[in-house]
Amino acid sequence: MDDKLISDAIAYMQDLFRGNADGHDAAHTLRVWRTALLLARSEPGCDVQLVALAALLHDVDDHKLFRTEDQANARAFLESRGVPPERIARICEAIASVSFSRNRGRRPATLEGQIVQDADRLDAIGAIGIARTFAYGGRHGRDLESSIAHFHEKLLLLRDEMNTPAARALAEERHAFMTQFLAQYEKESAADRPPLCR
Ligand code: NI
Repeated sequence: MDDKLISDAIAYMQDLFRGNADGHDAAHTLRVWRTALLLARSEPGCDVQLVALAALLHDVDDHKLFRTEDQANARAFLESRGVPPERIARICEAIASVSFSRNRGRRPATLEGQIVQDADRLDAIGAIGIARTFAYGGRHGRDLESSIAHFHEKLLLLRDEMNTPAARALAEERHAFMTQFLAQYEKESAADRPPLCR
């Protein structure tokens, strides 16, 4: 793998995310990249460099953070490094297939897209998922109950939506931890309520 291209992609991504601290930040992307590489090891047929680049660039055109059209940030980086147009198209296709909201119920067409989507979803659950949910909620003025609702509406569904067997195995542990957290949260919330007066 071209290490320079990968380290340049990391630097480019970190630069774009400077100043973001709501769980949708450079640290998120680095975790997704590492998890994607881990998953790629269990999928011998996949294009590892494509997985790495798609993971590192998967959020650089996120509509919540950037006002770009047609993955302009990802394209600008890849073009500036002389990546062939046909390969840029494949990387951008993989990135486009990752998003949860835009692809609900649709499985990415390529193995590389499936791996990056799994890695992105794994970062939304488990201990990291819990931390990110409350960080995001706080930044957007949501109270704790709204963040708790997000677990039931979205995060608890992700375990069953993993594409690769390796991701399903990792999701199992993270899902169990979230379930345990929610049960404890419920218990403590109930203890908080004033006793009923009869
Ligand atoms: Ni992401």
